[in-house]
Amino acid sequence: MKAGLGICLLMLAVIVVGRTSPAPQSAKVERGRYLVDQVALCGDCHTPRTEKGEPIKEKYLKGSPLFFKPTVPIPGWADKSPNIAGLPGWEEHDAIKFFMTGLAYNDLPGRPPMPQYRFNQEDATAIVTYLRSLGAEGKAGGDGK
Ligand code: HEC
Repeated sequence: MKAGLGICLLMLAVIVVGRTSPAPQSAKVERGRYLVDQVALCGDCHTPRTEKGEPIKEKYLKGSPLFFKPTVPIPGWADKSPNIAGLPGWEEHDAIKFFMTGLAYNDLPGRPPMPQYRFNQEDATAIVTYLRSLGAEGKAGGDGK
């Protein structure tokens, strides 16, 4: 009976400790994928489409001409989006700041219609980890930095 209780407490401790330790890299990548694909829909603007309007899988997040235009004049409107697979050219901390504040390394926002996202640090980090895992600059899982 006592041994049983001991084992129960031990298992509970394992569960509690497991919960509070930082999310493993694979969970972070999965969270980032969810935010990119299911919440923020980055591919709507960053993935090119076929003539039928279907996203081209092989060019996932590789940048695209936009398929829509503003109906009223918007200063600075960008008519194409850059490649974000692997986040080439971005330092990790700059990219995290960009997704938390909407401001890039030069303290300027991306041109419209790039949204000025306000993710919290955990989610911004997950997005960066995921995007890094897609590109040549950081193979699956990134370099851990
Ligand atoms: C509504 C369309 C749209 C959506 C949705 C969108 N983007 Fe963009 N994004 C753009 C456009 C257009 C640009 C180019 C802006 C420019 O030239 O300054 C851009 C630029 C960027 C840049 C480069 C910014 C810079 O200053 O160099 C990054 C990084 C980026 N987007 C990441 C993302 C991520 C990650 C998501 C999803 C979380 C996302 N974008 C969703 C349209 C979009």
